[in-house]
Amino acid sequence: MTIKRYTIAVILGDGIGPEIVQAALSILQQVATSAGLTLELTEVEAGAAAYQKYGDNLSVEALETCKQADAIFKGPTGLPHVRLPDGTEAGVLGGRFRNGLDLYVNLRPIKLYPNVPTALANRQPGDIDWVMVRENTEGLYASRGNGIVATSGQAATDTLMITRVGSERIIRYAFEEARRRNGKKRVTCVDKSNVLRSFAFFRQIFKEIAVEYPDIETDFIYVDAAAQAIVLEPERFDVMVTENMFGDILSDLGGATIGGVGVCAGANIGQNYAYFEPIHGSAPGLAGKGIANPLSAILAGRLMLDYLGQPEAAARLEQAIEQAFIAKTIVLRPDGSAEKGTQAIVEAVSHQLSKA
Ligand code: IPM
Ligand code: MN
Repeated sequence: MTIKRYTIAVILGDGIGPEIVQAALSILQQVATSAGLTLELTEVEAGAAAYQKYGDNLSVEALETCKQADAIFKGPTGLPHVRLPDGTEAGVLGGRFRNGLDLYVNLRPIKLYPNVPTALANRQPGDIDWVMVRENTEGLYASRGNGIVATSGQAATDTLMITRVGSERIIRYAFEEARRRNGKKRVTCVDKSNVLRSFAFFRQIFKEIAVEYPDIETDFIYVDAAAQAIVLEPERFDVMVTENMFGDILSDLGGATIGGVGVCAGANIGQNYAYFEPIHGSAPGLAGKGIANPLSAILAGRLMLDYLGQPEAAARLEQAIEQAFIAKTIVLRPDGSAEKGTQAIVEAVSHQLSKA
């Protein structure tokens, strides 16, 4: 068997980051070994701790290591009390990576696993199985670091930017994703085109791109109605595509329907680079207690295997997680935390992997 090697830059992150990333890496190594893959890990310092130490949340060298790697595996970064002089968080890497490396896709699967206490009554696995395709480089967050505070100090503005190039590529990605998933083959355009010109422009581009994909159904919904539909009719969704901030908000709402953001992972993908992470924050209050739910990080690993061109290893990991839920060896509390602790989840998934 030829061994395939991948280099992975690892950012442990702040708060619960190191615990859940280490947990996920042990699972990933197990999957890799049985699939004949070698993952060469290089740790990179980044985030709030790096900012406190070096005055920079990601040094030039750290960024270079990330760029050299085949993929970046990242824990949650940022700590509430570590702030920049403008009041925003110093440890957040979103802008550095997403804009810096032009990672225009933020892919976030929302899937209800068996036996998960969902906030939605009477919902079964299968009812909730969709993916958020969030535009990751423009929209309102294009204003990141560029907002204007009036000289009076009594007003502030941020500007929402929608470009043709940015919209075409994310919408095309959403249609391709609908083909790959082979689910309902439906892409839902989420916008606020009844009020804002920028979104009318986005919807117009969506319609133009849709013509290239006659095999995929299209669906349109305003963002406020989408928030309701995620709760009341989640089976409507297969692939959702939307602007950066709408995608940020709706992916957490989606998370709430499947047991919380503790089971939500995201892939940030561009033409040349990609990183994989839990979608939640660093939860410093939970750190060091051994109770953080590592599934978000493990599922980020699953997305990474797919990206690296190892769909079979990814599917095997997905199956092991599903089996552990069915066997009730993964037990989540209604708030999404791990009933029996971080390590118990690692053991549950590892056990299923060794059986297959
Ligand atoms: C996310 C996060 C980030 C974002 C924050 C931490 C900058 O909420 O990845 O969803 O706003 O995108
Ligand atoms: Mn978010």
